[in-house]
Amino acid sequence: MPSKNADKELAVGEFDFVVVANRLPVDIQYQDDGSFTWQQSPGGLVTAMEPVMRSNHGAWVGWTGGTGDAPDPFDTDGMRLAPVELSEEEVTDYYEGFSNATLWPLYHDVIVPAEFHRHWWDTYQKVNERFAQAAAQQAAYGALVWVHDYQLQLVPQYLRKLRPDVKIGYFHHIPFPPVELFSQLPWRTQIVSGLLGADLVGFQRPGDARNFLRSVRRLTGQPTRGSVVHLNERFTNMPRQVRATAFPISIDSAAFDDRARQPEVQERARQIREELGNPEIIFLGVDRLDYTKGILHRLKSYGELLTEGTLAPPQCVLVQVASPSREGVEQYQLLRDEIEVTVGRLNGDYSELGHPAVHYLHHSYDHDEMTALYLAADVMLVTSLRDGMNLVAKEYIASRIDENGVLILSEFTGAADELRHAMMINPHDYEGNKEAMVRATEMPAREARRRMRALRRRVMENDVAKWAERFIDTLKTHPSPMHTSAEQSEEA
Ligand code: F6P
Repeated sequence: MPSKNADKELAVGEFDFVVVANRLPVDIQYQDDGSFTWQQSPGGLVTAMEPVMRSNHGAWVGWTGGTGDAPDPFDTDGMRLAPVELSEEEVTDYYEGFSNATLWPLYHDVIVPAEFHRHWWDTYQKVNERFAQAAAQQAAYGALVWVHDYQLQLVPQYLRKLRPDVKIGYFHHIPFPPVELFSQLPWRTQIVSGLLGADLVGFQRPGDARNFLRSVRRLTGQPTRGSVVHLNERFTNMPRQVRATAFPISIDSAAFDDRARQPEVQERARQIREELGNPEIIFLGVDRLDYTKGILHRLKSYGELLTEGTLAPPQCVLVQVASPSREGVEQYQLLRDEIEVTVGRLNGDYSELGHPAVHYLHHSYDHDEMTALYLAADVMLVTSLRDGMNLVAKEYIASRIDENGVLILSEFTGAADELRHAMMINPHDYEGNKEAMVRATEMPAREARRRMRALRRRVMENDVAKWAERFIDTLKTHPSPMHTSAEQSEEA
């Protein structure tokens, strides 16, 4: 650890708590004259971070979502926002390319093939370095820096080099694959080394942490004991420990619960049912339009039930919200075409005039409308083929203040670890999906209520604020490198 004087030569900033994420928690709209306006984006992460940011004098480093010159750092709602600039080419190679066409499929069981391109990797390194520099500029001496997600896996290592005085946490929001899959990545050792720049590496599930620890042993030869990696002189000239463990993320549960109690939202839920023709059963799917979500598996299962006559519109209806996502990436374009052809066929075959079998909505909605949809839906379908957590499942539960509604949940979501009272499915098993959908429609009210009550207890107790608190407390108490090496020499 350098002395405070030595730090004078480093670019030391003024913030004690710095979040580094691919995106800033605001949407910036650029005007033709180059000026901009912005609106806070209502994500769960920003809700969790807000109180920590305020009480800790916080800064958030991230991309605006646009290209070209980024605005200078500015203050909003008690926090400093520090935009990171990306050129058009960098958005293609770093965001759409390496992050979302290499890492995303590789970390989600290679549902579609992962593409490996050396120039994408070069840009990923360059952009990660830029994020690390921006974080170093904002962080005060000894600050806590919390890096988020797969787009920024090299930031911990780069940042440690620039600022050995700060404590670095990293949270991985998506699955971490088994080493057998991860090993396909030509730059696997560099990625693992990037993450090992952190003091604490958090994952959604214990299985993700185990996968990471196995990759560390296999690819770096560094020893692990329980959830701790003991980095020795063969890896670093400053031996230290890295903890890798699970911190399952959650939502701002009280906010969904509160919204669901608003008379306007309840009225909107009634209106939605009416607009759908007051069917007996409303199935609901809410996803980013992503191949990991199993939307086609869901449509096929529903379609077969219609073909067999087990379910018959207009007594039942499926509402599928598929919000636009990563539209510059080819696999997302292909998936959109396939989903839209499938929905078109189902509607052609099974709709009646004014009563489509599937309501397909390629939009994003605000929290009020989403809560009303959750309240209106009898059966929520979460059929992901692989999902770090799946917060939609938790949002549905937090919105069901009436303790009604049935959640069908893929066992391949992180949420499945916690939400044991949902109806679990393997989305690849079409017969199992169909059986679950039929059982959900026939479930006795008492059983549905018993399950929903247990699910609500879980989600209301473990909210996103608790998640952030657990992570930050663990990071704060992590031994600093000096402490670690002293301990080790005492042990010796
Ligand atoms: O779940 C991973 C994640 O990157 C989230 O952090 C983000 O909200 C979501 O996917 C959407 O991703 P993007 O920023 O690519 O639109």
